[in-house]
Amino acid sequence: MKKKILVLTGSPRVGGNSDLLADAFIRGAIKAGHEVFKCEVGKKNIKGCIACNTCYSKGTPCSFDDDFNNIAPHIEKADMIVFATPLYWFTFPSELKAVIDKTYSFLIGEKELNIKESMLLVCGEDNKESAFDGIVSTYKLILSYQKWTDRGHLVVPGVLNKGDILSTDYLVRAEKIGNNI
Ligand SMILES: Cc1cc2nc3c(=O)[nH]c(=O)nc-3n(C[C@H](O)[C@H](O)[C@H](O)COP(=O)(O)O)c2cc1C
Repeated sequence: MKKKILVLTGSPRVGGNSDLLADAFIRGAIKAGHEVFKCEVGKKNIKGCIACNTCYSKGTPCSFDDDFNNIAPHIEKADMIVFATPLYWFTFPSELKAVIDKTYSFLIGEKELNIKESMLLVCGEDNKESAFDGIVSTYKLILSYQKWTDRGHLVVPGVLNKGDILSTDYLVRAEKIGNNI
C-alpha cells in the first residue's frame, strides 16, 4: 500500500551523514512506490514550546509564527514519520526536538493525526552503540505515547565528519530499509 512518508532531518549540514542516510532511505521508499516528503528541520527557525496552550486558537497550529507552522500541515498529512538525525548530546538536535515538542499543538488543538508508523535513523561520532541509548529510548517512549507502530531504528556509530558515512555500508542498508517499508 502506498504510504505518505514524512522524513524530518535534524542536521543543519546539507550533504552531512544523516542527510545522506535520509536520502538513501528516501530512494528506497520512492522505488517502492511511496510518496515521500523530506523536511530539513535542522535549517529551520523553530522556537521551543512555551506551554501557552493557545495552539490552533489563532488559526495556526502554534500561536507563534515560526517554521513549525509550515511543517505542521505535512505532519497532518503523513501516514508515517521518519526521524533522520545526528546525535547531539545523546539526543535529538534542538530544532528537531522543538518540532517534536510542538506536536503538543495537535493534542491541545484536538487534531487527530493519521500517522501510524515511525522510524529512527541516527548517526554519531561515538563508536559505542550504547551512546545512542538516550535517543533510542526517547524515540521509543514518544511512539509508545503516540501509539505509532515502531518500524525500527538504525544506529550509525563512528561517523563524525561530513561524508564519513560514505565509507560504510549504512547507505545501502538504509536504501533497503526504505525499499521494504
Ligand atoms: C552540537 C553537537 C553535539 C554532538 N553530540 C554528539 C554526541 O552526543 N554523541 C556522538 O556520538 N556524536 C555527537 N556529535 C557528532 C555528530 O553526531 C556527528 O558528527 C554526526 O556524524 C553529524 O551528522 P551530520 O553530518 O548529519 O550533521 C555532536 C555534534 C555536534 C555538532
